[in-house]
Amino acid sequence: MSKEGQEKVFIPFFSTKKQGSGIGLSLCKQIVLLHRGTIQLQSAEGEGTVFTLRSG
Ligand SMILES: Nc1ncnc2c1ncn2[C@@H]1O[C@H](COP(=O)(O)OP(=O)(O)O)[C@@H](O)[C@H]1O
Ligand SMILES: [Mg+2]
Repeated sequence: MSKEGQEKVFIPFFSTKKQGSGIGLSLCKQIVLLHRGTIQLQSAEGEGTVFTLRSG
């Protein structure tokens, strides 16, 4: 993921896909935060991305 992408993925309606909605990750973050958890991402551009959810 690009650095810019990493900064924006949790913003509602941000999508890099032609038919994307940009809802998935922002909704995940809302749900996780309501459970007092955290969601983090670790990404190496062109290689892969790992999302880590921790319970609160
Ligand atoms: N596993 C992933 N690897 C790389 N980029 C991702 C990944 N998951 C999400 N993204 C990026 O975050 C954006 C927002 O994702 P998401 O909220 O699920 O909406 P959508 O799938 O509709 O685009 C995607 O368009 C993509 O750019
Ligand atoms: Mg998605």
